[in-house]
Amino acid sequence: MHFLQLAACNLQLSTMIEIKNVSKSFGDIQILKGVSAVMETGKTNLIIGISGSGKTVLQKCMVGLFEVDEGEILFDGNNLPAMPEEERKQLRQQIGMLFQGSALFDSMTVERNVKFPLDMFTKWDHKKKIDRVNEVLERVNLKDTNKKFPAEVSGGMKKRVGIARAIVLNPKYLFCDEPNSGLDPQTSMVIDLLIKEITKEYNMTTVINSHDMNSVMEIGQTILYLYQGEKEWVGNNKEIIFSKNQKLNEFIFASEFLRDAKDMRMLEEKGIIDNDRNMEEVMKDPETHLLMGDNEKRESHPDRDDEK
Ligand SMILES: Nc1ncnc2c1ncn2[C@@H]1O[C@H](COP(=O)(O)OP(=O)(O)O)[C@@H](O)[C@H]1O
Ligand SMILES: [Mg+2]
Repeated sequence: MHFLQLAACNLQLSTMIEIKNVSKSFGDIQILKGVSAVMETGKTNLIIGISGSGKTVLQKCMVGLFEVDEGEILFDGNNLPAMPEEERKQLRQQIGMLFQGSALFDSMTVERNVKFPLDMFTKWDHKKKIDRVNEVLERVNLKDTNKKFPAEVSGGMKKRVGIARAIVLNPKYLFCDEPNSGLDPQTSMVIDLLIKEITKEYNMTTVINSHDMNSVMEIGQTILYLYQGEKEWVGNNKEIIFSKNQKLNEFIFASEFLRDAKDMRMLEEKGIIDNDRNMEEVMKDPETHLLMGDNEKRESHPDRDDEK
């Protein structure tokens, strides 16, 4: 292979968003404290943490709605905070955003809501725009809702309209702030999985803010856990089961029920529980006790973290 082709391949592989040492204060109050992370292409990258931990501020910094005080935000190697305005504009057109609460225009039909970015950023003729609108509406399973108004559709459908509008310009990057807010758990999961599917299909780098434990487990392909504006833990939804980070476990496995579920899942992942073994056998297994003992240690040594 020619050297240049090889270089191009490498560039393709490394497409992603990387944030380095991002800090942001409002007045005297520091909200983000030197956060670094990598968001991978074709994956759903979650930013999680309790309300007020800085998720929205971080996303707004990442898309340039807030200026960072310090740090870099690299979109495929290009640092947004250092970009001239013209370059920023071009980058913004490659960013799709699903806002908290969908943020649809109530006075516009579903079709006009989704067409809005095309009216703003393209010079396409009407037919081409409508064809594209229909294509994305179909993708989010909302065929034939074109003429409805937001007030006439359900909460889950509003989110789908928001997703259709966010992807209508075929963005490389997709940002979603709490895409599940206000939805029941079942509808939430459908929306989560739709975002995950679309992310893979369109090979986007998707960043999702969430405090929803179901989302973390279902679509946490990469997870950044923020605690009071700091990176407390990074990993994925498999690693979270084994994590001994106390702050993380208090957040994710908040109830005793979930802590038990975590222990069971850990035994399952380690192959100690499977369909052919009954619980009596499992409890006799020395490795079970080793793992459980590990848990007790976790409780009595709160400072033991697997990653800081
Ligand atoms: N525009 C702003 N001006 C001042 N403080 C803000 C602003 N936006 C957010 N904050 C503060 O930043 C902190 C983190 O907020 P936010 O990022 O919205 O949290 P999360 O999205 O994790 O719930 C909060 O204490 C909030 O009050
Ligand atoms: Mg928020």
